[in-house]
Amino acid sequence: MKNINDQVFVIFGASGDLTKRKLIPALFSLYKSNLLPENFSIIGTARSELSDKDFRESMINAIKDYGEFDENRVHEFTKFLFYISTDSEEDAGFANLKSKLKNVREQLSIKGNTIFYLSTPPKLYSAIPKLLATHGLNNESDGWKRLIIEKPFGYNLESAKELHKILMNDWNEDQIYRIDHYLGKETVQNVLVTRFSNGIFEPLWNRNFVHHVEITSAEDIGVEKRGGYYDSSGALRDMIQNHLLQLVGLIAMEPPASLEAPAIRNEINKVFQALRPIKEGEINNHVIRGQYLESKIKEKKVIGYREEEGVPEDSKTETFAAIKFYIDNWRWGGIPFYIRTGKRLPTRVTEVVIHFKPTPHYLFTQQDFCNSCNQLIIRIQPDEGILLKFGLKTPGPGFNVQNVNMDFHYSDISDQKVQPAYERLIHDSMIGDKTLFAQASEVMAAWKFLTPILQAWQNDSSVPIYGYPAGTWGPEQADNLIEEKEMAWRYPCKNLADDGIYCEL
Ligand code: BG6
Repeated sequence: MKNINDQVFVIFGASGDLTKRKLIPALFSLYKSNLLPENFSIIGTARSELSDKDFRESMINAIKDYGEFDENRVHEFTKFLFYISTDSEEDAGFANLKSKLKNVREQLSIKGNTIFYLSTPPKLYSAIPKLLATHGLNNESDGWKRLIIEKPFGYNLESAKELHKILMNDWNEDQIYRIDHYLGKETVQNVLVTRFSNGIFEPLWNRNFVHHVEITSAEDIGVEKRGGYYDSSGALRDMIQNHLLQLVGLIAMEPPASLEAPAIRNEINKVFQALRPIKEGEINNHVIRGQYLESKIKEKKVIGYREEEGVPEDSKTETFAAIKFYIDNWRWGGIPFYIRTGKRLPTRVTEVVIHFKPTPHYLFTQQDFCNSCNQLIIRIQPDEGILLKFGLKTPGPGFNVQNVNMDFHYSDISDQKVQPAYERLIHDSMIGDKTLFAQASEVMAAWKFLTPILQAWQNDSSVPIYGYPAGTWGPEQADNLIEEKEMAWRYPCKNLADDGIYCEL
Protein backbone atom coordinates (compact mmCIF):
# COMPACT_ATOMS: atom_id res chain seq x y z
CA MET A 1 0.00 0.00 0.00
CA LYS A 2 1.20 3.52 -0.78
CA ASN A 3 2.26 5.80 2.08
CA ILE A 4 -0.24 8.24 3.45
CA ASN A 5 0.92 11.85 3.76
CA ASP A 6 -0.10 14.37 6.39
CA GLN A 7 -3.07 16.24 5.02
CA VAL A 8 -6.21 18.29 5.57
CA PHE A 9 -9.57 16.97 4.37
CA VAL A 10 -11.98 19.81 3.56
CA ILE A 11 -15.66 18.94 3.13
CA PHE A 12 -17.90 21.35 1.23
CA GLY A 13 -21.52 20.62 2.10
CA ALA A 14 -20.58 19.70 5.66
CA SER A 15 -24.11 20.15 6.99
CA GLY A 16 -25.58 17.84 4.35
CA ASP A 17 -26.84 14.30 4.47
CA LEU A 18 -23.89 12.64 2.74
CA THR A 19 -21.46 14.12 5.26
CA LYS A 20 -23.49 12.76 8.16
CA ARG A 21 -24.45 9.40 6.74
CA LYS A 22 -21.28 8.43 4.89
CA LEU A 23 -18.27 10.72 4.99
CA ILE A 24 -17.80 11.30 8.73
CA PRO A 25 -18.66 7.70 9.72
CA ALA A 26 -16.17 6.51 7.05
CA LEU A 27 -13.45 8.87 8.31
CA PHE A 28 -14.08 7.77 11.89
CA SER A 29 -13.82 4.15 10.91
CA LEU A 30 -10.52 4.83 9.09
CA TYR A 31 -9.33 6.53 12.27
CA LYS A 32 -10.23 3.50 14.40
CA SER A 33 -8.37 1.24 11.94
CA ASN A 34 -5.30 3.50 12.22
CA LEU A 35 -5.53 4.35 8.54
CA LEU A 36 -5.45 8.13 8.90
CA PRO A 37 -2.16 10.04 8.85
CA GLU A 38 -0.62 11.14 12.11
CA ASN A 39 -0.96 14.84 11.36
CA PHE A 40 -4.45 15.23 10.04
CA SER A 41 -7.51 17.42 10.18
CA ILE A 42 -11.02 17.65 8.75
CA ILE A 43 -12.45 21.08 8.04
CA GLY A 44 -16.17 21.13 7.42
CA THR A 45 -17.65 24.05 5.55
CA ALA A 46 -21.20 25.03 4.59
CA ARG A 47 -23.47 28.04 4.75
CA SER A 48 -24.73 27.46 8.28
CA GLU A 49 -23.00 29.43 11.01
CA LEU A 50 -21.49 26.88 13.38
CA SER A 51 -18.61 26.91 15.81
CA ASP A 52 -15.99 24.14 15.84
CA LYS A 53 -17.73 22.88 18.98
CA ASP A 54 -21.19 22.78 17.34
CA PHE A 55 -19.76 20.93 14.36
CA ARG A 56 -18.00 18.40 16.58
CA GLU A 57 -21.20 17.72 18.49
CA SER A 58 -23.25 17.30 15.37
CA MET A 59 -20.66 14.89 13.92
CA ILE A 60 -20.62 12.83 17.14
CA ASN A 61 -24.38 12.43 16.67
CA ALA A 62 -23.85 11.47 13.03
CA ILE A 63 -21.43 8.73 14.08
CA LYS A 64 -23.92 7.54 16.71
CA ASP A 65 -26.67 7.39 14.09
CA TYR A 66 -24.81 6.06 11.08
CA GLY A 67 -21.41 4.78 12.13
CA GLU A 68 -19.86 2.36 14.60
CA PHE A 69 -19.77 4.43 17.73
CA ASP A 70 -16.96 4.08 20.23
CA GLU A 71 -17.27 6.48 23.16
CA ASN A 72 -13.55 6.79 23.94
CA ARG A 73 -12.23 7.04 20.45
CA VAL A 74 -14.89 9.40 19.16
CA HIS A 75 -13.65 12.13 21.49
CA GLU A 76 -10.05 11.74 20.31
CA PHE A 77 -11.33 11.79 16.73
CA THR A 78 -13.33 14.98 17.09
CA LYS A 79 -10.13 16.86 17.97
CA PHE A 80 -9.41 16.63 14.23
CA LEU A 81 -12.63 18.45 13.36
CA PHE A 82 -12.94 22.16 12.59
CA TYR A 83 -15.60 24.26 10.92
CA ILE A 84 -15.80 27.46 8.93
CA SER A 85 -18.89 28.95 7.35
CA THR A 86 -18.65 29.74 3.61
CA ASP A 87 -21.14 30.60 0.95
CA SER A 88 -19.79 28.50 -1.89
CA GLU A 89 -20.76 31.09 -4.47
CA GLU A 90 -19.24 34.08 -2.67
CA ASP A 91 -15.62 35.07 -2.97
CA ALA A 92 -15.33 36.37 0.62
CA GLY A 93 -15.85 33.01 2.29
CA PHE A 94 -12.86 31.52 0.49
CA ALA A 95 -10.49 34.03 2.07
CA ASN A 96 -11.83 32.90 5.47
CA LEU A 97 -11.41 29.27 4.47
CA LYS A 98 -7.82 29.98 3.43
CA SER A 99 -6.97 31.55 6.76
CA LYS A 100 -8.73 28.73 8.67
CA LEU A 101 -6.64 26.23 6.72
CA LYS A 102 -3.49 28.15 7.60
CA ASN A 103 -4.36 28.24 11.32
CA VAL A 104 -5.26 24.56 11.48
CA ARG A 105 -2.07 23.58 9.64
CA GLU A 106 0.06 25.61 12.02
CA GLN A 107 -1.76 24.32 15.08
CA LEU A 108 -1.40 20.66 14.05
CA SER A 109 1.88 20.86 12.06
CA ILE A 110 0.30 19.71 8.81
CA LYS A 111 1.97 20.37 5.46
CA GLY A 112 0.09 21.76 2.45
CA ASN A 113 -1.47 18.51 1.18
CA THR A 114 -5.21 19.05 0.91
CA ILE A 115 -8.30 17.23 -0.34
CA PHE A 116 -11.40 19.25 -1.16
CA TYR A 117 -14.48 17.03 -1.14
CA LEU A 118 -17.43 18.51 -3.03
CA SER A 119 -20.48 17.08 -1.32
CA THR A 120 -22.69 19.92 -2.52
CA PRO A 121 -25.49 20.36 -5.05
CA PRO A 122 -23.95 19.67 -8.50
CA LYS A 123 -24.49 23.24 -9.67
CA LEU A 124 -21.55 24.22 -7.41
CA TYR A 125 -19.06 21.79 -9.00
CA SER A 126 -17.70 24.54 -11.23
CA ALA A 127 -18.00 27.52 -8.85
CA ILE A 128 -16.11 26.00 -5.89
CA PRO A 129 -13.00 24.83 -7.80
CA LYS A 130 -12.89 28.21 -9.55
CA LEU A 131 -13.00 30.14 -6.27
CA LEU A 132 -10.46 27.79 -4.67
CA ALA A 133 -8.13 28.57 -7.55
CA THR A 134 -8.77 32.32 -7.26
CA HIS A 135 -7.42 32.06 -3.72
CA GLY A 136 -4.43 29.96 -4.73
CA LEU A 137 -5.81 26.85 -3.03
CA ASN A 138 -5.04 24.74 -6.12
CA ASN A 139 -1.37 25.61 -5.88
CA GLU A 140 0.81 22.56 -5.28
CA SER A 141 4.07 24.29 -4.35
CA ASP A 142 3.57 23.45 -0.64
CA GLY A 143 1.92 20.03 -1.13
CA TRP A 144 -0.58 18.28 -3.41
CA LYS A 145 -4.17 19.47 -3.84
CA ARG A 146 -6.99 17.11 -4.86
CA LEU A 147 -10.67 17.57 -5.66
CA ILE A 148 -13.19 14.81 -5.02
CA ILE A 149 -16.33 15.37 -7.06
CA GLU A 150 -19.58 13.51 -6.42
CA LYS A 151 -21.88 12.42 -9.20
CA PRO A 152 -23.52 13.58 -11.40
CA PHE A 153 -20.57 14.97 -13.34
CA GLY A 154 -22.67 17.07 -15.73
CA TYR A 155 -26.26 16.61 -16.77
CA ASN A 156 -25.66 15.44 -20.34
CA LEU A 157 -22.72 15.32 -22.73
CA GLU A 158 -22.63 19.04 -23.37
CA SER A 159 -22.76 20.10 -19.71
CA ALA A 160 -20.19 17.46 -18.72
CA LYS A 161 -17.81 18.82 -21.38
CA GLU A 162 -18.44 22.34 -20.18
CA LEU A 163 -17.76 21.40 -16.54
CA HIS A 164 -14.58 19.60 -17.57
CA LYS A 165 -13.42 22.62 -19.52
CA ILE A 166 -13.98 24.93 -16.56
CA LEU A 167 -12.10 22.58 -14.21
CA MET A 168 -9.19 22.25 -16.62
CA ASN A 169 -8.62 26.01 -16.54
CA ASP A 170 -7.27 25.76 -12.99
CA TRP A 171 -6.74 22.07 -12.21
CA ASN A 172 -5.27 19.09 -13.99
CA GLU A 173 -6.80 15.66 -14.51
CA ASP A 174 -4.44 14.06 -11.97
CA GLN A 175 -5.95 16.24 -9.25
CA ILE A 176 -9.56 15.25 -9.98
CA TYR A 177 -11.18 12.24 -8.29
CA ARG A 178 -14.67 11.53 -9.69
CA ILE A 179 -16.22 9.37 -7.05
CA ASP A 180 -18.66 6.53 -7.87
CA HIS A 181 -19.42 4.62 -4.70
CA TYR A 182 -20.19 1.41 -6.62
CA LEU A 183 -16.50 1.14 -7.48
CA GLY A 184 -15.73 1.15 -3.76
CA LYS A 185 -17.85 -1.95 -3.15
CA GLU A 186 -15.79 -5.04 -2.35
CA THR A 187 -17.99 -7.21 -4.60
CA VAL A 188 -17.59 -4.85 -7.55
CA GLN A 189 -13.80 -5.02 -7.23
CA ASN A 190 -14.10 -8.77 -7.00
CA VAL A 191 -15.40 -8.84 -10.59
CA LEU A 192 -11.77 -8.22 -11.62
CA VAL A 193 -10.53 -11.04 -9.42
CA THR A 194 -13.22 -13.50 -10.51
CA ARG A 195 -12.45 -12.81 -14.15
CA PHE A 196 -8.69 -12.52 -14.10
CA SER A 197 -7.54 -14.92 -11.41
CA ASN A 198 -9.47 -17.93 -12.71
CA GLY A 199 -8.38 -19.70 -15.87
CA ILE A 200 -11.76 -21.38 -16.30
CA PHE A 201 -13.73 -18.23 -17.07
CA GLU A 202 -11.56 -16.43 -19.62
CA PRO A 203 -12.05 -18.93 -22.50
CA LEU A 204 -15.84 -18.67 -22.04
CA TRP A 205 -16.06 -14.92 -21.51
CA ASN A 206 -16.91 -13.85 -25.06
CA ARG A 207 -19.43 -13.95 -27.89
CA ASN A 208 -18.69 -17.62 -28.66
CA PHE A 209 -20.07 -18.88 -25.35
CA VAL A 210 -22.09 -16.06 -23.84
CA HIS A 211 -25.69 -15.72 -25.00
CA HIS A 212 -26.40 -12.40 -23.27
CA VAL A 213 -25.47 -10.40 -20.18
CA GLU A 214 -27.99 -8.96 -17.75
CA ILE A 215 -27.34 -6.42 -15.00
CA THR A 216 -30.04 -5.47 -12.50
CA SER A 217 -29.91 -2.92 -9.75
CA ALA A 218 -33.24 -2.85 -7.96
CA GLU A 219 -34.32 -0.87 -4.93
CA ASP A 220 -37.44 -1.40 -2.88
CA ILE A 221 -37.40 2.15 -1.50
CA GLY A 222 -38.94 5.11 -3.33
CA VAL A 223 -37.31 8.50 -3.71
CA GLU A 224 -37.81 9.22 0.01
CA LYS A 225 -36.96 12.83 0.87
CA ARG A 226 -34.94 13.35 -2.31
CA GLY A 227 -37.86 14.09 -4.65
CA GLY A 228 -36.50 17.52 -5.60
CA TYR A 229 -33.10 16.18 -6.61
CA TYR A 230 -34.45 13.00 -8.17
CA ASP A 231 -36.98 14.71 -10.38
CA SER A 232 -34.21 16.60 -12.18
CA SER A 233 -32.16 13.43 -12.43
CA GLY A 234 -34.17 10.23 -13.01
CA ALA A 235 -32.95 6.64 -13.07
CA LEU A 236 -30.75 7.04 -16.15
CA ARG A 237 -28.65 9.81 -14.66
CA ASP A 238 -28.86 8.61 -11.06
CA MET A 239 -27.85 4.97 -11.55
CA ILE A 240 -27.09 4.04 -15.16
CA GLN A 241 -24.72 6.80 -16.31
CA ASN A 242 -22.36 5.96 -13.47
CA HIS A 243 -22.91 2.84 -11.34
CA LEU A 244 -24.35 0.45 -13.92
CA LEU A 245 -22.12 1.47 -16.81
CA GLN A 246 -19.09 1.07 -14.54
CA LEU A 247 -20.26 -2.48 -13.84
CA VAL A 248 -20.64 -3.06 -17.58
CA GLY A 249 -17.07 -1.80 -18.00
CA LEU A 250 -15.68 -4.28 -15.47
CA ILE A 251 -17.64 -7.20 -16.91
CA ALA A 252 -16.77 -6.45 -20.53
CA MET A 253 -13.19 -5.09 -20.34
CA GLU A 254 -10.10 -6.82 -21.66
CA PRO A 255 -7.50 -7.98 -19.11
CA PRO A 256 -5.47 -4.92 -18.07
CA ALA A 257 -1.70 -4.99 -18.54
CA SER A 258 -1.26 -4.32 -14.81
CA LEU A 259 -3.24 -3.24 -11.77
CA GLU A 260 -2.06 0.35 -12.14
CA ALA A 261 -4.89 2.89 -12.40
CA PRO A 262 -4.23 3.94 -16.04
CA ALA A 263 -4.13 0.30 -17.21
CA ILE A 264 -7.53 -0.49 -15.67
CA ARG A 265 -9.21 2.81 -16.49
CA ASN A 266 -8.07 2.63 -20.13
CA GLU A 267 -9.59 -0.82 -20.59
CA ILE A 268 -12.89 0.37 -19.15
CA ASN A 269 -12.75 3.40 -21.36
CA LYS A 270 -12.29 1.19 -24.43
CA VAL A 271 -15.51 -0.64 -23.57
CA PHE A 272 -17.36 2.67 -23.33
CA GLN A 273 -15.93 3.80 -26.66
CA ALA A 274 -17.31 0.62 -28.23
CA LEU A 275 -20.90 1.08 -26.97
CA ARG A 276 -23.09 1.05 -30.07
CA PRO A 277 -25.08 4.32 -30.16
CA ILE A 278 -28.85 3.85 -29.94
CA LYS A 279 -30.33 5.94 -32.72
CA GLU A 280 -33.40 8.09 -32.26
CA GLY A 281 -35.64 5.79 -34.31
CA GLU A 282 -34.53 2.76 -32.26
CA ILE A 283 -35.27 4.13 -28.82
CA ASN A 284 -38.62 2.37 -28.34
CA ASN A 285 -37.10 -1.03 -29.16
CA HIS A 286 -34.05 -0.54 -26.97
CA VAL A 287 -35.11 1.52 -23.98
CA ILE A 288 -38.10 1.32 -21.64
CA ARG A 289 -38.82 3.92 -19.00
CA GLY A 290 -41.35 3.74 -16.23
CA GLN A 291 -42.65 5.54 -13.19
CA TYR A 292 -44.04 3.93 -10.04
CA LEU A 293 -47.72 4.30 -9.25
CA GLU A 294 -49.62 4.11 -6.00
CA SER A 295 -50.07 0.57 -4.79
CA LYS A 296 -50.40 -1.66 -1.75
CA ILE A 297 -47.34 -3.54 -0.51
CA LYS A 298 -47.93 -6.07 2.24
CA GLU A 299 -51.34 -4.49 2.89
CA LYS A 300 -49.80 -1.04 3.29
CA LYS A 301 -50.60 1.79 0.92
CA VAL A 302 -47.57 3.14 -0.90
CA ILE A 303 -47.83 6.47 -2.71
CA GLY A 304 -46.96 6.92 -6.37
CA TYR A 305 -43.93 8.90 -7.58
CA ARG A 306 -46.00 11.93 -8.57
CA GLU A 307 -47.36 12.17 -5.03
CA GLU A 308 -43.89 12.25 -3.49
CA GLU A 309 -42.67 15.46 -1.81
CA GLY A 310 -40.87 17.76 -4.24
CA VAL A 311 -42.18 15.98 -7.36
CA PRO A 312 -44.48 17.85 -9.78
CA GLU A 313 -47.89 16.28 -10.43
CA ASP A 314 -47.19 15.94 -14.13
CA SER A 315 -43.58 14.76 -13.81
CA LYS A 316 -42.24 12.60 -16.63
CA THR A 317 -39.09 11.63 -14.77
CA GLU A 318 -38.33 7.91 -14.97
CA THR A 319 -37.99 5.90 -11.77
CA PHE A 320 -37.32 2.76 -13.83
CA ALA A 321 -35.19 2.30 -16.93
CA ALA A 322 -34.15 -0.76 -18.89
CA ILE A 323 -31.82 -0.69 -21.89
CA LYS A 324 -30.74 -3.27 -24.43
CA PHE A 325 -27.47 -2.44 -26.14
CA TYR A 326 -24.42 -3.88 -27.89
CA ILE A 327 -20.68 -3.48 -27.48
CA ASP A 328 -19.14 -3.39 -30.92
CA ASN A 329 -15.79 -5.08 -30.40
CA TRP A 330 -14.24 -8.48 -31.07
CA ARG A 331 -15.09 -9.95 -27.70
CA TRP A 332 -18.76 -8.94 -27.59
CA GLY A 333 -19.85 -8.28 -31.21
CA GLY A 334 -23.54 -9.27 -31.59
CA ILE A 335 -24.14 -10.17 -27.93
CA PRO A 336 -26.95 -8.20 -26.28
CA PHE A 337 -26.44 -6.58 -22.90
CA TYR A 338 -29.53 -5.77 -20.83
CA ILE A 339 -29.44 -3.41 -17.88
CA ARG A 340 -32.30 -2.28 -15.67
CA THR A 341 -32.72 -0.27 -12.54
CA GLY A 342 -35.66 1.08 -10.64
CA LYS A 343 -37.10 2.37 -7.40
CA ARG A 344 -40.03 0.67 -5.63
CA LEU A 345 -39.29 -2.72 -7.11
CA PRO A 346 -39.99 -5.84 -5.01
CA THR A 347 -36.57 -6.03 -3.37
CA ARG A 348 -33.13 -4.42 -3.06
CA VAL A 349 -30.63 -6.30 -5.14
CA THR A 350 -27.75 -5.64 -7.52
CA GLU A 351 -26.37 -8.48 -9.60
CA VAL A 352 -24.81 -9.44 -12.92
CA VAL A 353 -26.03 -12.52 -14.76
CA ILE A 354 -23.90 -14.06 -17.49
CA HIS A 355 -26.22 -16.28 -19.54
CA PHE A 356 -24.22 -18.89 -21.41
CA LYS A 357 -25.33 -20.34 -24.74
CA PRO A 358 -27.30 -23.58 -24.61
CA THR A 359 -25.90 -26.87 -25.88
CA PRO A 360 -26.05 -27.14 -29.69
CA HIS A 361 -28.38 -30.14 -29.57
CA TYR A 362 -30.95 -31.14 -26.94
CA LEU A 363 -30.13 -34.71 -26.11
CA PHE A 364 -32.53 -35.04 -23.24
CA THR A 365 -36.04 -34.83 -24.51
CA GLN A 366 -37.66 -33.44 -21.37
CA GLN A 367 -35.10 -30.69 -21.23
CA ASP A 368 -36.80 -27.42 -22.04
CA PHE A 369 -34.71 -24.50 -23.25
CA CYS A 370 -34.13 -22.87 -19.91
CA ASN A 371 -33.24 -26.02 -18.09
CA SER A 372 -30.18 -26.04 -20.24
CA CYS A 373 -29.29 -22.45 -19.50
CA ASN A 374 -26.06 -22.11 -17.62
CA GLN A 375 -25.95 -18.86 -15.70
CA LEU A 376 -23.17 -17.34 -13.66
CA ILE A 377 -24.59 -14.83 -11.21
CA ILE A 378 -22.31 -12.32 -9.56
CA ARG A 379 -24.22 -10.88 -6.64
CA ILE A 380 -23.07 -7.38 -5.70
CA GLN A 381 -25.58 -6.98 -2.83
CA PRO A 382 -27.14 -8.27 -0.60
CA ASP A 383 -26.14 -11.87 0.26
CA GLU A 384 -22.95 -11.10 -1.65
CA GLY A 385 -21.59 -14.08 -3.51
CA ILE A 386 -21.43 -16.07 -6.73
CA LEU A 387 -23.91 -18.62 -8.04
CA LEU A 388 -23.56 -21.04 -10.92
CA LYS A 389 -26.69 -22.66 -12.36
CA PHE A 390 -26.43 -25.88 -14.31
CA GLY A 391 -28.48 -28.88 -15.38
CA LEU A 392 -28.45 -32.09 -13.33
CA LYS A 393 -30.15 -35.44 -13.68
CA THR A 394 -33.19 -35.66 -11.45
CA PRO A 395 -32.70 -38.86 -9.43
CA GLY A 396 -34.94 -41.69 -10.65
CA PRO A 397 -35.77 -43.41 -13.90
CA GLY A 398 -35.07 -41.84 -17.29
CA PHE A 399 -33.06 -38.73 -17.96
CA ASN A 400 -34.94 -35.83 -16.54
CA VAL A 401 -32.90 -32.67 -16.27
CA GLN A 402 -33.33 -30.10 -13.55
CA ASN A 403 -31.61 -26.78 -13.00
CA VAL A 404 -29.52 -26.68 -9.81
CA ASN A 405 -27.35 -24.17 -7.97
CA MET A 406 -23.76 -24.12 -6.83
CA ASP A 407 -23.29 -21.10 -4.63
CA PHE A 408 -20.61 -19.26 -2.71
CA HIS A 409 -21.49 -16.59 -0.13
CA TYR A 410 -18.98 -14.07 1.18
CA SER A 411 -20.37 -14.67 4.65
CA ASP A 412 -18.89 -18.21 4.44
CA ILE A 413 -15.25 -17.17 4.16
CA SER A 414 -14.79 -14.52 6.72
CA ASP A 415 -16.35 -12.81 9.65
CA GLN A 416 -14.13 -9.86 8.85
CA LYS A 417 -16.17 -6.76 8.16
CA VAL A 418 -16.39 -5.79 4.48
CA GLN A 419 -14.97 -2.29 4.17
CA PRO A 420 -17.79 0.11 3.24
CA ALA A 421 -17.43 1.73 -0.18
CA TYR A 422 -16.88 5.30 1.02
CA GLU A 423 -14.19 4.19 3.45
CA ARG A 424 -12.26 2.48 0.68
CA LEU A 425 -12.59 5.37 -1.76
CA ILE A 426 -11.75 8.10 0.75
CA HIS A 427 -8.65 6.20 1.80
CA ASP A 428 -7.64 5.66 -1.85
CA SER A 429 -7.97 9.37 -2.55
CA MET A 430 -5.80 10.11 0.49
CA ILE A 431 -3.01 7.87 -0.76
CA GLY A 432 -3.42 9.11 -4.34
CA ASP A 433 -4.66 5.84 -5.83
CA LYS A 434 -6.99 6.60 -8.75
CA THR A 435 -7.75 3.00 -9.77
CA LEU A 436 -11.34 3.22 -8.57
CA PHE A 437 -12.11 6.72 -9.86
CA ALA A 438 -13.55 7.43 -13.30
CA GLN A 439 -11.44 9.32 -15.84
CA ALA A 440 -12.88 12.28 -17.76
CA SER A 441 -12.90 10.31 -21.02
CA GLU A 442 -15.04 7.53 -19.48
CA VAL A 443 -17.56 9.99 -18.14
CA MET A 444 -17.79 11.68 -21.55
CA ALA A 445 -18.20 8.35 -23.35
CA ALA A 446 -20.98 7.33 -20.93
CA TRP A 447 -22.80 10.61 -21.56
CA LYS A 448 -22.27 10.29 -25.32
CA PHE A 449 -24.04 6.93 -25.21
CA LEU A 450 -26.94 8.10 -23.03
CA THR A 451 -27.53 11.67 -24.25
CA PRO A 452 -29.54 10.65 -27.39
CA ILE A 453 -31.88 8.67 -25.12
CA LEU A 454 -32.31 11.62 -22.77
CA GLN A 455 -32.94 13.89 -25.75
CA ALA A 456 -35.56 11.59 -27.24
CA TRP A 457 -37.32 11.39 -23.88
CA GLN A 458 -37.31 15.12 -23.57
CA ASN A 459 -38.20 16.10 -27.13
CA ASP A 460 -40.36 13.33 -28.50
CA SER A 461 -43.73 13.17 -26.78
CA SER A 462 -44.54 9.91 -28.56
CA VAL A 463 -41.93 8.02 -26.50
CA PRO A 464 -44.06 6.46 -23.76
CA ILE A 465 -43.40 6.46 -20.04
CA TYR A 466 -45.16 3.45 -18.55
CA GLY A 467 -46.65 3.36 -15.08
CA TYR A 468 -45.92 0.37 -12.86
CA PRO A 469 -47.52 -0.36 -9.51
CA ALA A 470 -45.03 0.14 -6.66
CA GLY A 471 -43.69 -3.24 -5.58
CA THR A 472 -43.63 -4.78 -9.07
CA TRP A 473 -40.68 -5.38 -11.41
CA GLY A 474 -41.33 -2.28 -13.53
CA PRO A 475 -43.37 -1.99 -16.72
CA GLU A 476 -44.24 -5.28 -18.45
CA GLN A 477 -42.90 -3.77 -21.68
CA ALA A 478 -39.36 -4.23 -20.29
CA ASP A 479 -39.83 -7.99 -20.81
CA ASN A 480 -40.16 -7.47 -24.56
CA LEU A 481 -36.64 -6.05 -24.74
CA ILE A 482 -35.29 -9.57 -24.35
CA GLU A 483 -35.12 -10.95 -27.85
CA GLU A 484 -35.84 -14.63 -27.52
CA LYS A 485 -39.26 -15.74 -26.39
CA GLU A 486 -37.89 -18.45 -24.10
CA MET A 487 -35.71 -15.97 -22.26
CA ALA A 488 -36.70 -13.59 -19.48
CA TRP A 489 -35.07 -11.38 -16.88
CA ARG A 490 -34.00 -13.19 -13.76
CA TYR A 491 -36.21 -12.10 -10.86
CA PRO A 492 -33.78 -12.22 -7.95
CA CYS A 493 -34.73 -12.53 -4.29
CA LYS A 494 -32.87 -11.34 -1.23
CA ASN A 495 -31.08 -14.66 -0.96
CA LEU A 496 -28.69 -15.28 -3.81
CA ALA A 497 -29.84 -18.81 -4.56
CA ASP A 498 -33.55 -17.94 -4.83
CA ASP A 499 -35.51 -16.36 -7.62
CA GLY A 500 -39.16 -15.77 -8.37
CA ILE A 501 -41.12 -12.73 -9.43
CA TYR A 502 -42.64 -11.85 -6.07
CA CYS A 503 -40.53 -13.76 -3.59
CA GLU A 504 -40.10 -10.76 -1.29
CA LEU A 505 -43.73 -9.75 -1.13
C1 BG6 B 1 -26.97 6.58 -5.30
C2 BG6 B 1 -28.25 7.08 -5.89
O1 BG6 B 1 -25.88 6.97 -6.09
O2 BG6 B 1 -27.00 5.17 -5.21
C3 BG6 B 1 -29.43 6.62 -5.07
O3 BG6 B 1 -28.24 8.49 -5.97
C4 BG6 B 1 -29.41 5.14 -4.87
O4 BG6 B 1 -30.67 7.02 -5.66
C5 BG6 B 1 -28.04 4.68 -4.37
O5 BG6 B 1 -30.41 4.83 -3.91
C6 BG6 B 1 -27.95 3.18 -4.36
O6 BG6 B 1 -26.76 2.81 -3.74
P1 BG6 B 1 -26.62 1.40 -3.01
O7 BG6 B 1 -25.20 1.37 -2.58
O8 BG6 B 1 -27.61 1.41 -1.88
O9 BG6 B 1 -26.95 0.38 -4.05
